[in-house]
Amino acid sequence: MKDKCFLVTGSSSGIGRAITIKLLDSGAKVIGIARNHSKPKLEHKNYLTYSIDLSKFNDLEKIIKKIIQDHPEINGLISNAGYGEFGPLENFSVNDISSFFSMNLTSHIIITKCLLPHLKKKEIGDIIFMGSEASLTGEKNGTLYCSAKFGLRGFSQALRKDVSNSNIRVCIINPGMVRTNFFNSLKFSPGEDINNAVSEEDISNAVLSILTLGRNTVVDEINLSPLKKVIKFK
Ligand SMILES: NC(=O)c1ccc[n+]([C@@H]2O[C@H](COP(=O)([O-])OP(=O)(O)OC[C@H]3O[C@@H](n4cnc5c(N)ncnc54)[C@H](OP(=O)(O)O)[C@@H]3O)[C@@H](O)[C@H]2O)c1
Repeated sequence: MKDKCFLVTGSSSGIGRAITIKLLDSGAKVIGIARNHSKPKLEHKNYLTYSIDLSKFNDLEKIIKKIIQDHPEINGLISNAGYGEFGPLENFSVNDISSFFSMNLTSHIIITKCLLPHLKKKEIGDIIFMGSEASLTGEKNGTLYCSAKFGLRGFSQALRKDVSNSNIRVCIINPGMVRTNFFNSLKFSPGEDINNAVSEEDISNAVLSILTLGRNTVVDEINLSPLKKVIKFK
């Protein structure tokens, strides 16, 4: 992985942080994006961070293109940043809905759009999206989250067909519940037993496996579920 450099969004905590550590340990370089990298700050000679709010689009295209220009060695994207909102649809304001889709769907599409010409020129690349079990099945109170994650999955499937001729592999990982800060602002979390959550470590291992397969093979999609799904309501 020494010749690899990944843009990782949401690298400051949870799943994105675990993936970042795994990639760094494997010898890759990581350019991390989040709003706040001090939770606590991850220090590594091959890790560079940018503090960016990905839900704000004013200058996003310019900022991402500048990062790519400054780091032409980037040859992959782990598009992971996101947050959850659950509840009856009528409880959300129009602004809530718009911000939610900006972050959880549109920002992934914009970053990918900015990176594609660069990867196509290199004629090599890997793009992994962080979907969810909510990409696969609509669930109660999940109108916003499920529709954003279904959308991301559709985007990933279509993109994969568009870019395979440029030697770019596209994958989406759909985990069930993972014990992260994701649940801090929600009214539920995984049950307390270790078997009630997928570990960040296992997701990062899956990422490394996907990336280290022969380049003739693409993992289109991978679903990871807790052995025993239990939801604890707060
Ligand atoms: N935890 C689960 O059960 C679970 C299951 C399936 C899928 N997922 C998905 O996994 C991804 C990561 O979630 P997680 O569980 O690791 O949660 P997390 O620990 O809360 O991490 C979310 C990451 O996204 C970043 N982020 C959020 N809003 C952002 C914004 N506006 N601009 C830039 N970065 C932003 C956060 O950084 P800052 O706050 O510093 O900006 C953080 O690094 C999400 O897409 C989530 O939907 C989670």
